[in-house]
Amino acid sequence: MHTILITGGAGFVGSNLAILLKEKYPSYSILCMDNLKRRGSELNLIRLRGHGITFIHGDIRQKNDFDQIITPVSCVIDAAAEPSVLAGLDGNTDYLIETNLNGTVHALNLALKHKANFIFLSTSRVYPIKTIEEIITTENDTRFDIAASQQIKGVSAAGISEDFPLRGSRSLYGATKLASELMVEEYHEMFGLNTVINRCGVITGPHQMGKIDQGVVVLWMARHFWKNKLSYVGYGGTGKQLRDMIHIKDLFSLIDLQIHQEKKFAGHTFNIGGTNKVSASLQELTTLCHQITGNKILIDAIPETRKADIRLYISDCHKIQTLSQWEPMISVEEILQDIFLWIKDNEKQLKPILN
Ligand SMILES: NC(=O)c1ccc[n+]([C@@H]2O[C@H](COP(=O)([O-])OP(=O)(O)OC[C@H]3O[C@@H](n4cnc5c(N)ncnc54)[C@H](O)[C@@H]3O)[C@@H](O)[C@H]2O)c1
Repeated sequence: MHTILITGGAGFVGSNLAILLKEKYPSYSILCMDNLKRRGSELNLIRLRGHGITFIHGDIRQKNDFDQIITPVSCVIDAAAEPSVLAGLDGNTDYLIETNLNGTVHALNLALKHKANFIFLSTSRVYPIKTIEEIITTENDTRFDIAASQQIKGVSAAGISEDFPLRGSRSLYGATKLASELMVEEYHEMFGLNTVINRCGVITGPHQMGKIDQGVVVLWMARHFWKNKLSYVGYGGTGKQLRDMIHIKDLFSLIDLQIHQEKKFAGHTFNIGGTNKVSASLQELTTLCHQITGNKILIDAIPETRKADIRLYISDCHKIQTLSQWEPMISVEEILQDIFLWIKDNEKQLKPILN
């Protein structure tokens, strides 16, 4: 019998993990805490309720909001965040730091009080932008790829591993997540908390409220669905920038292992993503979205690269695969098909948010 608290539990990752957990383990008690800051998260409340999941309207910036949790909690999954890589670039960094750093410390303190295990959703954005941009790449017809021979530690044709250097600027978002990682490590070492850090690449799938600065795969499909415009921004405007991506169900299968084998994973940090196997450039996404929707849309080319952009990111998942045999199973085509069906089935409700 487990009671699991998910912060950001009305968000894309949080709500899906909550529902998948409840479906697999009906006897578990799942508590989802969220302040509903993200537009569209409110739509998930009906889904949570329908699955018998308790929603707590709370703000992780406020440590008193955690006082509402009185039942003993066995595991905390910290999935509340301001997740945009552009957050704070307008000079207003308060919300970002108070949520992504202070909020995580509040969630750690709750875990400590309850002697609960702690699973932290971190990001590939902890790795510095300039160093990522120094990776030697090849330019192919539809995408950039990582070249076979590299000079930087922690990078190979298999992607970026946990040994990739951490020194250098990484975006304000990435900095708050790395700062939180340091606190998670301290709570593991100093208090013996079972903690695990997952540095995720792009996570996607149905129920992601994609927008221009976060949730690009859903945005790409939505724009095709409603026949709107898109742009290839940066790197010459050819849309060859590359990302790996992971379906939320593949992430769930990993979190499921981490909840139930906490000693095995405790104290570890992992790069988690779709690997080369589940990756696509924007150009390739366009082709697939066109095939699935039947709609061909106008895509502008804006050659100039923006601050915080990166040419490519592929997660090297050897560490987690060696420890657990976990690997992503759902292909790019299946991911896009799933997103398409979700939009199609909920067109009216989603149009004001995704269009
Ligand atoms: N989606 C991705 O591609 C991706 C990639 C890497 C890491 N992550 C990490 O995964 C986690 C979940 O991201 P997501 O994609 O579900 O984002 P999301 O925006 O869909 O969900 C985050 C949720 O947190 C809530 N929230 C924001 N501020 C809060 C606060 N102060 N108090 C309480 N709730 C608050 C939002 O309302 C939202 O429902 C985040 O930590 C993010 O950094 C996501």
